[in-house]
Amino acid sequence: MDVVSTSAMLSQVFFFLHFVTLTLGQYDICKSLVSMDDGQTWEFYACQPKPMAMKEFMQITVDPPGITCGNPPERFCTLENPYLCSDECDASNPDLAHPPQLMQDRETSGLITYWQTVTWRRFPEPLLANISLAWNKSLELTDDIQVTFEYGRPTIMVLDKSLDKGRTWQPYQFYADDCMDAFGMPAKRVQDLSATNVTRVICTEQYSRWVGSKNEKVLRFEVMARFAIFAGPKLLNMDSLYTRMESMKGLRDFFTFTNLRLRLLRPALGGTYFQRDNLLKYFYAVSNIDVPAR
Ligand SMILES: *[C@@H]1O[C@H](CO)[C@@H](O)[C@H](O)[C@H]1NC(C)=O
Ligand SMILES: *[C@@H]1O[C@H](CO)[C@@H](O)[C@H](O)[C@H]1NC(C)=O
Ligand SMILES: *[C@@H]1O[C@H](CO)[C@@H](O)[C@H](O)[C@H]1NC(C)=O
Repeated sequence: MDVVSTSAMLSQVFFFLHFVTLTLGQYDICKSLVSMDDGQTWEFYACQPKPMAMKEFMQITVDPPGITCGNPPERFCTLENPYLCSDECDASNPDLAHPPQLMQDRETSGLITYWQTVTWRRFPEPLLANISLAWNKSLELTDDIQVTFEYGRPTIMVLDKSLDKGRTWQPYQFYADDCMDAFGMPAKRVQDLSATNVTRVICTEQYSRWVGSKNEKVLRFEVMARFAIFAGPKLLNMDSLYTRMESMKGLRDFFTFTNLRLRLLRPALGGTYFQRDNLLKYFYAVSNIDVPAR
């Protein structure tokens, strides 16, 4: 059936929604009356909820207890300025506090705010932190998940997902500056995947190597690059993606979840070896988590 088209969603047109009783897989088919230069025409496409920024609806939990900095107040420094440990995190002072909800606020004033952990002062115990995101709903990704780290991205991290509101979990993607060393997995990129193995869980080194904390702050879970395997590099052939979503077992499930969890396993080290004489420069700081989904 060649009636599913995204052009109606993509073009800036006025339209009327009409729900008709046809169904294609789990999509209803919607049609809309589209105004063109030379009159009006019907467009058919899959009725789906509109993609939204889900960060506003997520419930964030961080673990273990006491992982958020500032209680008691503590000093820290940055990897780029390791000898000036004059910054302070203090949970009791709103100007110096870094609570978890700062990962989902809108940075409208232009001021970047972020959740920050305690420093690695307990070394040699590893510095571990979990960020759990719950929606109590099934979401389907429509674009890349983007996590913004201030002061450097973790050198080891796992993104997990749950399809059953947190009862069971599975890894979604592994991230490390050395995949073999951290997880015993060869390093891959989404570009290495093809239609037959697009749902494979990979380990990537693309977002974990040190490039300077200001140069590249974002860690991604690549959704668009996976869509492009079916829809072409410019995503022009979304019909083909939707057809595959219906016919290929597990493809829709791959982009679906009710909960996500970031397991932060080792912070940024600044591109050099670990320096145990200055533990105040090792910590995690996350300013934003974007989850575009429907
Ligand atoms: C993070 O979650 C995993 C899975 O539930 C758990 O095994 C681990 O202990 C948690 N880590 C922390 C730091 O709470
Ligand atoms: C989750 O959703 C179910 C129904 O879908 C509702 O009964 C339950 O109260 C919700 N839980 C939370 C924590 O919002
Ligand atoms: C996926 O399949 C392609 C060929 O179909 C292969 O070249 C690639 O190595 C595979 N990727 C993984 C991660 O197995």
